[in-house]
Amino acid sequence: MTQGRFANALGAITGSIIGLDREAEILAVALDTGRHVVLEGPPGTGKSSLLRMMCRGADLSFVFVEGNAELTPSRLLGSYDPAMVLEGGYRADAFVEGPLVWALREGSVLYIEEFNRVPEETLNVLITALEEGEAHIPRYGTVHGAEGFRLVAAMNPFDAIGTARISHVVSDRTCRIAIGYQEAEREQAIIGLHHDAPPEVVEFAVELTRKTRDHPEIRIGASVRGAIDVTVLAVELAARRGVDSMTRDTLRDAARAALTGRIRIDESGTRSPDEIIDELFAALFDARANDPPDGQGKVNRLLRDQEADQGKH
Ligand SMILES: Nc1ncnc2c1ncn2[C@@H]1O[C@H](COP(=O)(O)OP(=O)(O)OP(=O)(O)O)[C@@H](O)[C@H]1O
Ligand SMILES: [Mg+2]
Repeated sequence: MTQGRFANALGAITGSIIGLDREAEILAVALDTGRHVVLEGPPGTGKSSLLRMMCRGADLSFVFVEGNAELTPSRLLGSYDPAMVLEGGYRADAFVEGPLVWALREGSVLYIEEFNRVPEETLNVLITALEEGEAHIPRYGTVHGAEGFRLVAAMNPFDAIGTARISHVVSDRTCRIAIGYQEAEREQAIIGLHHDAPPEVVEFAVELTRKTRDHPEIRIGASVRGAIDVTVLAVELAARRGVDSMTRDTLRDAARAALTGRIRIDESGTRSPDEIIDELFAALFDARANDPPDGQGKVNRLLRDQEADQGKH
């Protein structure tokens, strides 16, 4: 067994990526052995961060492409600059490389997000690259892939367009790594990586955000990005408002702003995101208020002003 470049980089991502040890290991081995990979998981579960950190650790560049209906074959491959063609014809230097050609030539990782939104004809171009390690471009010729070229695609299983859209021709040429939401403590640690906030606020933000994921009226809950925003908004609003502890009002303003726009209500649901977030918020906040006063500082500071505050509602 030879230790590959990505496997060697695994140590370097510890500290910047929380959890995902097993997924990172599988991804590293897959990339080191020349596999192409689909990372499948809900939004905000760390797919892009993991790949970015692994490429950084392996000292490899990667090119990022957003998958959407406008990702035509020529956007992916590249195209001729019309002004230069007018001047000098279809010369090689008039060709502006797209991300696929760049990644093939450099032997880099091509990372395509929202892979299930990529149009069929663009997927067909990718199949040639996966299968033969090259791309055929009209008038320009064939670009042969350098050693190291890999496709990593990310997709979200909740996407309304569905993962079944990816034809079997593509999925049969890729490995799939599923990435899910992490446990609460790890989500708290993710927030801690980027923001200095009181632990009780972070815990509250994570717990509230997680409640959006298994609510019967919510089809898609909020990711750790929602919890990050609850935390940042709450802390900064409190500082601005000049209160030294977190009031119900401030925390609720933060929760509403951070979460109501992120959740997707189930088609059968009758209530608005605001109503559902308010309900989840009130239940969690009141439950915390009932914690014993020595509850490890969990709620004390959080709720110091609650009684005064409640008078206003
Ligand atoms: N395991 C993790 N370790 C460190 N940070 C993480 C982790 N998971 C998520 N994050 C943080 O959460 C945010 C979202 O992560 P990221 O963009 O990697 O998710 P994603 O799965 O690519 O989402 P999307 O499907 O929407 O593209 C980033 O700010 C990232 O720093
Ligand atoms: Mg991403």
